Amino acid sequence: MSLQEKVTAAFQEQFGTPPPVLVRAPGRVNLIGEHTDYNDGFVLPMAIDREIWLALRPRDDEQVLVHSLDFGETAVFHLNNLQNTKAGWSEYLKGVAWALQENGYALRGWEGILAGNVPKGAGLSSSAALELVTARAFQQVSGFAWDAAQMAKLSQLAENKWVGMNCGIMDQMISAAGQAGHALLIDCRSLETQSVPLPPTLDGSETAVVILDTTTRRGLVDSAYNERRQQCEAAAEFFGVQALRDVSIAEFLEEADNLAPLTRKRAKHVITENLRTLNAAKAMQNADAMLLGQLMNESHISMSDDFEITNNELNVMVTAAQAQPGCFGARMTGGGFGGCAVALVHGEQVEEFVTAVSQQYQQQTDLIPKIYVCQPSDGASVINP
Ligand code: GLA
Repeated sequence: MSLQEKVTAAFQEQFGTPPPVLVRAPGRVNLIGEHTDYNDGFVLPMAIDREIWLALRPRDDEQVLVHSLDFGETAVFHLNNLQNTKAGWSEYLKGVAWALQENGYALRGWEGILAGNVPKGAGLSSSAALELVTARAFQQVSGFAWDAAQMAKLSQLAENKWVGMNCGIMDQMISAAGQAGHALLIDCRSLETQSVPLPPTLDGSETAVVILDTTTRRGLVDSAYNERRQQCEAAAEFFGVQALRDVSIAEFLEEADNLAPLTRKRAKHVITENLRTLNAAKAMQNADAMLLGQLMNESHISMSDDFEITNNELNVMVTAAQAQPGCFGARMTGGGFGGCAVALVHGEQVEEFVTAVSQQYQQQTDLIPKIYVCQPSDGASVINP
């Protein structure tokens, strides 16, 4: 059963009518541009065909009532009395309601059914998908205009201030603005986007994006993530700029010796990663899968050696992926310290690729990986029921 059928059937059962409104929002995978978003830099993610769906109808009062099929739980909250109870999944919905209202949106209540298939905690942005599907729901029942960048910003605000995770703008932006068949080059300062298609192979076949979940999870995630942010801010301060985005390679090289060794490594990753990301978008425009793959490989080295956010399992997975004949390139993706890698693979060699990488990873780590072959999908949207 598709997610659409699932939420529609459950809605019919609970409310006795078909749902008048259906909305969905995707998770994401980042092809390149890691830990650059909070440095006002560039990222190149794509929305994936792993999504969260909501079937709903407006209410006449200010109450939101939502049943999650995945958690088997119902959450109820009042728009005029939002309480942060740290209750889990429903805090993302409340956080978005809070952020919208704080920014002047007049919201109406609604009731509905929620279900998704974005793996949770894997670094594929199930939180951003939940935030954006909620924003879409409020937009539909409250009748304001959909502005993808604005909704992404307010969802990020919800995540930063209500949920308490100090993330950048990438995940929310791609879940809001993704385009089927394309990755999105996002300028995280201006929030301008440019969609670029997945490049074909040399023989004109399609390439496939394969997500390789190590099944290791980042433990003390927030502390390590925040520490990287602080190190980047310190580096920006050293250069006297607003963000590391503003430092060129030439300026960096000129001053590199005067930087503390750790700050130097962190800054080097961000500054070179911004360049790689811009070059990767160009490679995609030029239909150059080889160059895109090579930049992904270089990005992984930068993350393991300079930004130091990979773990052994990520390195084993990426090495196994890169060694396969059908692989153009591979790197860890997302926040790091566990989670997933991403590989660009010849469309006709995906099966062999998946079997070989899975075997080799298992042999070397005793862990069974989870592997998803993904299609680039649209951002948060409304579906005709
Ligand atoms: C997490 C954050 C993003 C971004 C990435 C690293 O996914 O939510 O904002 O910083 O890590 O690129």
